[in-house]
Amino acid sequence: MKKEIISFETLLSSWSAEVTATNFPEAHSAIPSGVIPSRNEEFGDYQCETAMKLAKELKTNPRAVALTYKKAVHPDFVEKIEIAGPGFINITLKTTALAAQLEAMLADEKIGVPNLGKNQTVIIDYSSPNVAKPMHIGHIRSTVIGNSLDRLYRALGYNVIADNHLGDWGTQFGLIILGYREFADAEALKTTPVEELERIYVKSYNLSKEDEIWRERAKAELVKLQQGDKENRALWETFVELTLNEFDRIYKRLGVSFDLCRGESFYNDRLSSVIDLLKEKGLVTESNGALVCDLEADGLNIAIVRKSDGGYNYTTTDIATVMARTEEFKPAEIIYVTDERQQLHFKQFFHICKKIGVPTRLTHVWFGLMRLPEATFSTREGNVIKLEALLNEAEARALEIVKASSPGMDAAQQHEIARAVGIGAIKYTDLSQNPQSLVTFTWEKALAMDGNSGPYLQYAYARIASVRDKYAEKFPGKNPDEFPVVLTEEQERRLALKLTRFPAAVEAAAKLARPSVLADYLFDLSQAYSSFYQNVPFLKADEGVRESRIRICTLTATTLKQGLDLLGIETPERI
Ligand code: ARG
Repeated sequence: MKKEIISFETLLSSWSAEVTATNFPEAHSAIPSGVIPSRNEEFGDYQCETAMKLAKELKTNPRAVALTYKKAVHPDFVEKIEIAGPGFINITLKTTALAAQLEAMLADEKIGVPNLGKNQTVIIDYSSPNVAKPMHIGHIRSTVIGNSLDRLYRALGYNVIADNHLGDWGTQFGLIILGYREFADAEALKTTPVEELERIYVKSYNLSKEDEIWRERAKAELVKLQQGDKENRALWETFVELTLNEFDRIYKRLGVSFDLCRGESFYNDRLSSVIDLLKEKGLVTESNGALVCDLEADGLNIAIVRKSDGGYNYTTTDIATVMARTEEFKPAEIIYVTDERQQLHFKQFFHICKKIGVPTRLTHVWFGLMRLPEATFSTREGNVIKLEALLNEAEARALEIVKASSPGMDAAQQHEIARAVGIGAIKYTDLSQNPQSLVTFTWEKALAMDGNSGPYLQYAYARIASVRDKYAEKFPGKNPDEFPVVLTEEQERRLALKLTRFPAAVEAAAKLARPSVLADYLFDLSQAYSSFYQNVPFLKADEGVRESRIRICTLTATTLKQGLDLLGIETPERI
């Protein structure tokens, strides 16, 4: 059996925890034993701040505490441990250990990413747009970020269920059915169905505001739908289908797919029993005819769970959904990805779930809305941008880049590469930022060939692939894998160290729900590769050294490829 690859971070952290436990049994278990990459590489490869924290707690001299770690038996892959400043512990790895780790990663198709999720199910609820409304920028971010989390968790060995929780039920359908019967434009329904459905909804909604009779008629249609009336049910199904067809086209372009697409309607039959349960647990009170969960005492306001007209709310549906998912899939965690405006909603229903004894960990991953400067998109209306127009523009702009860098390439291939580059640029812009910070989109940044962008990383990958091609051309029949990895130059060692940190970057990106951690890592890696490539001879190096370098090249390429794939970004072999 193949030996499991364990990262140096993990090994060093357990070592430091052990030294702490043996030598300072009186220390608080809360003292972090974490070992992190050195902030300043001149001091070593890793650093450990345990001594400082421990000394503070035990009120002793940090240097003396640090000395205990220096004197303790070191793991065999450690070259030296030094103490610096007031009590920092700096750790340098043996270069041969780094080389051995690269060998192990080269032999592993997951390049060392650990199987953390053994037998654990995680449901990721993302994208989740609404029927009869175009996707807005929030749904797009949810799709791109959610899909990256989906990929990250799968890579870490979790059993992931990606569920697109469509907003496909609610009072709006009475208005849409009535409006559809009265003023649908058959032609527009064919060409731009979702826009037309939205137009119908908006017009019908406005009518209901001023016209009592219209309002009553819409209500009657809704009641008929809820009672299972055949015609209304069929109409509703048409709306769902028309909308999904359009969304599917977008998902396909984005390379996104779901395991489940259960809309809110799926849970409709369970809503009344949620109310029963909440009553049984004494969690609801009546307020002006409505039923509410009063969460004031916990600083969470009140959540309406049944309106005065008997209709149920978003909160009620989400509670029913959690219960159904827990029953059917027994997930360890459910992760929801939406924009920041829904924070209170999630806090409220997570809180209620806890009170009714739902065992599942519930996590809300929220993000800010991306700022689109005026005039960035000609098709922008409010915060609804026409995603397809955005993707078309990205591909068109990417085509110019590809034409310039590969003028001789045939047109079909240029288009195919431009597709991957254009979509990659949009996704990377979204994923490379801390999702909770405000981001302003610009084409210059998204498509920059010389900065932290999707195209830049794709280009780095393609360049590395071409080095390998050149090698194969110049030394036909030679197999670099028959030579060991040796690390001789400084830049080479630095790149090697970076490469060994890929698994930790993947793990951190998933745990923090921040694909940007992985994006930053990949950008750093490509920088380390660049300085290696520019300063160290490759094809002109002596036999053995040359093959070792080609293998490091291969591992860098694989890491970039797999890393970008975890961001949902393709890697063409040429650009
Ligand atoms: N459909 C909702 C919206 O567009 C998002 C649903 C998120 N998922 C959930 N389980 N609440 O705002």
